[in-house]
Amino acid sequence: MLASLHAAPAGPPLVSVDGVQKTYPGRNGAIQAVASASLTVRKGEFVSLLGPSGCGKSTLLMMVAGLESVTAGSIALNGSAVTGPRKDIGIIFQDATLLPWKSALENVLFPVRILKLPVDKYRDRAHELLRMVGLAGFENKKPAELSGGMRQRVAICRALVHDPDILLMDEPFSALDAITRDQMNVALSEILETYHKTVIFVTHSIREAAYLSDRVLVMGGRPSTIILDMPMPFSRPRKFDIEETAEFTQVCRRLRLSIEEAHADASASPPVRPAGSKAE
Ligand SMILES: Nc1ncnc2c1ncn2[C@@H]1O[C@H](COP(=O)(O)OP(=O)(O)OP(=O)(O)O)[C@@H](O)[C@H]1O
Ligand SMILES: [Mg+2]
Repeated sequence: MLASLHAAPAGPPLVSVDGVQKTYPGRNGAIQAVASASLTVRKGEFVSLLGPSGCGKSTLLMMVAGLESVTAGSIALNGSAVTGPRKDIGIIFQDATLLPWKSALENVLFPVRILKLPVDKYRDRAHELLRMVGLAGFENKKPAELSGGMRQRVAICRALVHDPDILLMDEPFSALDAITRDQMNVALSEILETYHKTVIFVTHSIREAAYLSDRVLVMGGRPSTIILDMPMPFSRPRKFDIEETAEFTQVCRRLRLSIEEAHADASASPPVRPAGSKAE
């Protein structure tokens, strides 16, 4: 048996996704990317989305961000319907997508300029964020002078600089080597302990999801929906050595079984594109 669950953050939902569907037009007919996904995320929660390639994780995240429309259903943040991009969200895409001609500091400050906020007021915060992710001294470097991991850290700072309530992260560490990825997991945990954000995090790494999350959702099935919503039984703050415990292994095994079920469903009937396994 797993140890008793630690208390999930209480209070009303900050993110409400209710019966959301997404259908894309395709050359050979419509592609149902998401069918009837419903979930809530409370203020301060860290929720991960796992699932086979092509099951609709990025689509769901982009709908929450207001960057994709919903075909049916509704999404609300802080009680107000999502109808387009908004200030209370920070997004980190799989590729760091930095502006190559701007320094690390200027890239971090970019949302502040776009949102027409006072840059001078946010400069100290940008420096502080860069320091927290280990980039003190790199403020004036251009993206081409940084490693992939460093660029991704700049992207995290950029997503946080305007102090959004909600952070949406789509496979932010998938291109990093294993050690850097572990370091980024620890750095992200520390940042969240300081800044208390609400996070939806897409990953293919079961261990990363288990280490970082309060809850892990598994997407899959035919049609694609949320097939498992599992609270993580580890107290916070978390040390990285929880990954060595039997309880952690047991949690990961349960998640893996669920993802394997999702893969089996995906290969049983093919309207959404054939799924290649990337789960670690
Ligand atoms: N803009 C689009 N137009 C048409 N179909 C799309 C579009 N974006 C995604 N799809 C389709 O929707 C389905 C879900 O795609 P999505 O990118 O959300 O999957 P995913 O779970 O994020 O996959 P991965 O793990 O590979 O990133 C796939 O079948 C994909 O081909
Ligand atoms: Mg994706």
